[in-house]
Amino acid sequence: MPITIPKARQFSRILGVGGARASRVVTNEEMCTMIDSTPEWIEQRTGIVERRWVAEGESALTLAEEAARKALERSGVDAANVDTLIISTVSHYMQTPSMAAIVAEKLGMGHPAVFDISAACAGFCYALGLADALVRAGNAKHVLIVGSEVLSEYTDTEDRGTAFLFGDGAGAAVVGPSDVPAIGPTVWGSEPAAHDVITIDDWRQAAAHPYIHMEGRAVFKWATTAIADKAKEALAASGIAAHELDAFIPHQANNRITDSMLRHLGLPEGVVVARDIRTTGNTSAASVPLAMEALLESGEATSGQTALIIGFGAGLVYGAQVITLP
Ligand code: UT7
Repeated sequence: MPITIPKARQFSRILGVGGARASRVVTNEEMCTMIDSTPEWIEQRTGIVERRWVAEGESALTLAEEAARKALERSGVDAANVDTLIISTVSHYMQTPSMAAIVAEKLGMGHPAVFDISAACAGFCYALGLADALVRAGNAKHVLIVGSEVLSEYTDTEDRGTAFLFGDGAGAAVVGPSDVPAIGPTVWGSEPAAHDVITIDDWRQAAAHPYIHMEGRAVFKWATTAIADKAKEALAASGIAAHELDAFIPHQANNRITDSMLRHLGLPEGVVVARDIRTTGNTSAASVPLAMEALLESGEATSGQTALIIGFGAGLVYGAQVITLP
């Protein structure tokens, strides 16, 4: 007898997005009391003016819950009707249970499939690719995806090569069925030979606390060459020309990387470009949905517009899609 398989759907879309920013504002001036640098150097080299770090009572869990609640509310989907919860994080403090299992309980979900993924700054795009595939294959109707990071806890505040970059936050989205195409093909992959370019210490060998280590220049070069090409591939795979885009929402790693991608893609003037890094820093898996929410809340971008999103980072990994904004 043939096995019965789920009835596939043709299309999926992002139904709603939500974000949560940690509450403590750490300015470049304050940062320069920790590392040998200047506020001007940090702003010129990255575009960051301030970042958010967690305050007492906040964690990657509380931020994930807050972002997820907003995304659910905006999508009009009840937590009980979500079939799958995927959280992308490199900041969870336990090997098991997953952050997704804990957040599912906090959100009052029913019995969803729950799991975490580790795809660093490409985490949101990886999770979106999975959610899109699950919904279209008929294995889930509503998938809640969350990127949540508290990288300040993994930041060596004496390391002038990384301390100024990272911030804490969470971004979430609900993905569900759609009548029209609204999530283009996921262009994703990795650079396994460069797995050691950005790392968080092996906990067995960490002296006191696991910290982030990064070869900044190597990542910068990769992001402005190979990754810029991947952004082009995502456009081509979706059949969207650069001039048809309304918004470009790249991972918020460095404004100079964003500028380089803009040149490479040849995006016309009118395309809105996310620059959330200025006040948020690099929040890894949370950066794309946080930047998306910021553009929608400010009115710079609106629901129904077409956006190119791309994440890239430790692994090294990358993921990109063309989407219709929720
Ligand atoms: O999200 C995951 C992906 N991560 C990224 O995408 C990060 C990618 N990398 C970067 O964004 C950049 O490499 C950084 C922002 C981390 C560093 O900027 P850079 O332009 O690559 O700086 P650099 O390491 O090439 O250093 C340039 C100069 C050096 O001085 P000399 O040798 O030219 O005299 C450094 O010693 O800047 C100096 N420098 C600093 N000066 C003030 C390095 N760090 C600092 C600092 N403050 N914090």
